[in-house]
Amino acid sequence: MLVIIKKNYDEMSVEGAKMVADLIRRKPNCVIGFATGGTPLGLYKELIRMHKEEGLDFSKITTFNLDEYVGLPPEHSQSYHFFMWENLFKHINVDPRYVHIPQGMAVDIDEFCDWYEERIKYYGGIDLQILGIGANGHIAFNEPGSSLGSRTRIKTLKQETRWDNKRFFESDDDVPQYAITMGVGTIMDSKALLLLASGKGKATAIKATVEGPITALHPATIVQMHRKAFIICDEGAASTLSTEYSGYLS
Ligand code: PGA
Repeated sequence: MLVIIKKNYDEMSVEGAKMVADLIRRKPNCVIGFATGGTPLGLYKELIRMHKEEGLDFSKITTFNLDEYVGLPPEHSQSYHFFMWENLFKHINVDPRYVHIPQGMAVDIDEFCDWYEERIKYYGGIDLQILGIGANGHIAFNEPGSSLGSRTRIKTLKQETRWDNKRFFESDDDVPQYAITMGVGTIMDSKALLLLASGKGKATAIKATVEGPITALHPATIVQMHRKAFIICDEGAASTLSTEYSGYLS
């Protein structure tokens, strides 16, 4: 695990984007796992800049997103489909045929989840999975208590997650109750992980992830077992780590 500490959010984002761009230049037909949430937005902005100003070519990449709400159509402003197209895909030359985001409107969700796992395998596995982290240690919608070997599946959202999200919806009842998410095991099968964290609100989660015991009660701690995991945080998120880590290989 390589922990890289940058001064602030912008530097964290640029460092992360460099890693993604290096992979695309080395392997133009690579498979990248994308994440939603506020944290990767700066990284996506930098990728868009690299595309527009430096000609970074996304035309051969394949993408798989971590998760999606059940019951929201792709055009819903709170769906993760909408998020990805608005914040990244429509600004770069990604081929829509190679974009995969879980289908929240799937008729048979279990069948869809199996298909998603098969699809990842079909494309040779994910080369680099981008991850955010929840303050409670969740990765994707794998909340505390998720099996560390889990695969893509439907999950009931925790009440606190629904409360966090309710400001984005017209009424409480509109907040989805379920999501489709890659499992912790699915994420761990990626050839490399790039976990980003910014701000003091993530400091406790990052300390547990880097220095704590591995536990399903804090799913992100499993990244300690990954052979190629990069954690890029800013000084706020790293503020309670007890060791001097920047560029430290553990
Ligand atoms: P955030 O969410 O990037 O909006 O902080 C991260 C997460 O919950 O995984």
